[in-house]
Amino acid sequence: MSVKDRISELRNKLREEVEKITDSSLATNFRNKYLSKKSELSSISSELASLPPDERKESGALLNEVRNEVEELYNAKLDEITLKELNERLKAEAIDFSVPGRDSTVGALNPFYIVENEIIDIFTKMGYEVVEGPEVETEDNNFTLLNIPSDHPARDMQDTFFLREDGLLLRTQTSSMQVRTMAEKAGAPFKIICPGKTYRRDDDDATHSHQFAQVEGLLVDHDISMAHLKGTLELFLKSMFGEKREIRMTPSYFPFTEPSVEVAVSCFNCNGKGCSMCKGTGYIEVLGAGMVHPHVLEMNGYDPKEYSGFAFGIGIERIAMLRYGIDDIRRLYTNDVRFLHQFTKQVK
Ligand code: PHE
Repeated sequence: MSVKDRISELRNKLREEVEKITDSSLATNFRNKYLSKKSELSSISSELASLPPDERKESGALLNEVRNEVEELYNAKLDEITLKELNERLKAEAIDFSVPGRDSTVGALNPFYIVENEIIDIFTKMGYEVVEGPEVETEDNNFTLLNIPSDHPARDMQDTFFLREDGLLLRTQTSSMQVRTMAEKAGAPFKIICPGKTYRRDDDDATHSHQFAQVEGLLVDHDISMAHLKGTLELFLKSMFGEKREIRMTPSYFPFTEPSVEVAVSCFNCNGKGCSMCKGTGYIEVLGAGMVHPHVLEMNGYDPKEYSGFAFGIGIERIAMLRYGIDDIRRLYTNDVRFLHQFTKQVK
């Protein structure tokens, strides 16, 4: 068969083959097989050199014609397939923007933590350092070094979970951190708050829990007076319950502070007029505080002639209950989602 005939035959074959291309992988196969350097077109082309000049010219021209035709056919086919495949993909991946969105559920902080975070926020802005300490404590740290010796009736004020005969116990108050902090600061001035869990042998009811939480505050420095304590707590309570609140201090008793005070805030429900929330008194008791007892300073390495300080203890649950009108302390621990969901919008 002459070279020209072979070229013509190849042309017919390629015209048929190109029609069989129906997707992009067949197109790639076609290109590799029929348009590459290893194709029949190429091998015929390399044979041309050995032909007599006339035949070489004619066959060469024909070969070029066929190559151009097949390349054109192939390119047209490729365009057609690419468009077809793109359309199929667009259809398959189409997004219907009119479909209503699905709500995602947003987690919520338990109001306990909302309040704890807020207390920490308020005091850190005032420059307080946040410290934490162990819930299992020694009798010394929880009682003795806080001016509550073993025969002191004040020990009965706080029914204690003892863990061991030697007096290891679950701390009944975060005040144990007063002792630890004074030991750590070793005579230097400081101001700290300590949020944490505390335990007492209480029967659980709407306002009592055997496990609850406090934020202890302690400031020790030169020339600290009751006015500093009052200013600090006023700022705290106004941040917590609103600018209009007024605070009231009444004498109280804690073994480790002298004088000791019970601090109340004007009722945010009735603005001090008297309602069921404040039991008609216009004020709600919120925390205990006082000036650090000189003996406590002395026992913990601070000279009371040089140093003075104040301390306060805030019950986190009590603040959270007042703040959100929660009627039962147990709601803060039982994690009923219907309860927790009410605070979703409070997440900051
Ligand atoms: N620790 C006391 C209590 O639990 C509260 C308190 C702390 C009072 C600091 C005065 C100063 O009742």
